[in-house]
Amino acid sequence: MTADLERAISVVINGVPRGATVPVRWLLSDALRHEFGLTGTHVGCEHGVCGSCTVLVDGEPTRSCLVLAVQMDGHDITTVEGLSRPDHQGGQVLHPIQEAFRECHALQCGFCTPGFLTTIAAGLDARDPSVEISDDEVDELVGGNLCRCTGYANIKKACRHAAAQMREGAKVATLAPEDEELAR
Ligand code: FES
Ligand code: FES
Repeated sequence: MTADLERAISVVINGVPRGATVPVRWLLSDALRHEFGLTGTHVGCEHGVCGSCTVLVDGEPTRSCLVLAVQMDGHDITTVEGLSRPDHQGGQVLHPIQEAFRECHALQCGFCTPGFLTTIAAGLDARDPSVEISDDEVDELVGGNLCRCTGYANIKKACRHAAAQMREGAKVATLAPEDEELAR
């Protein structure tokens, strides 16, 4: 391949600076899966409809099948592999929506799941966790992604469950130390 058909890019993926030289025709989804080995990003329709390829670009849900990898130079990308956080004991803590999917049986084949998780995580992280989530908000969170086998009832249930968990977490975080002692 000639040099003008490739370009060097520098990105931060899941908090880690990464560099690569990629074909200019590659989609972000191609680069994530084939260059960076992050196969949690699934490619379904490849034209922006199903949402299974959704990742966060600078915190915003983005169809990785609709942007070129070279457009991502200098940007910050979070894939489904980056939703969990270190627990500072050598392990990882899942994002509340990941826990909620497990708890509420919100997946079957799992093909659509990474796109739902990244989209919903961004939506939940952006809202005030102390406010109870409404049905309209839940509809909004799941409305841009397609699932062909689970059905949406359990996915919506997982949204409500995660929002409730985050609400509890927010309550504990605002307790004074003496109240926290009482809450134990
Ligand atoms: Fe990107 Fe369907 S694969 S939206
Ligand atoms: Fe199979 Fe959603 S869990 S497509």
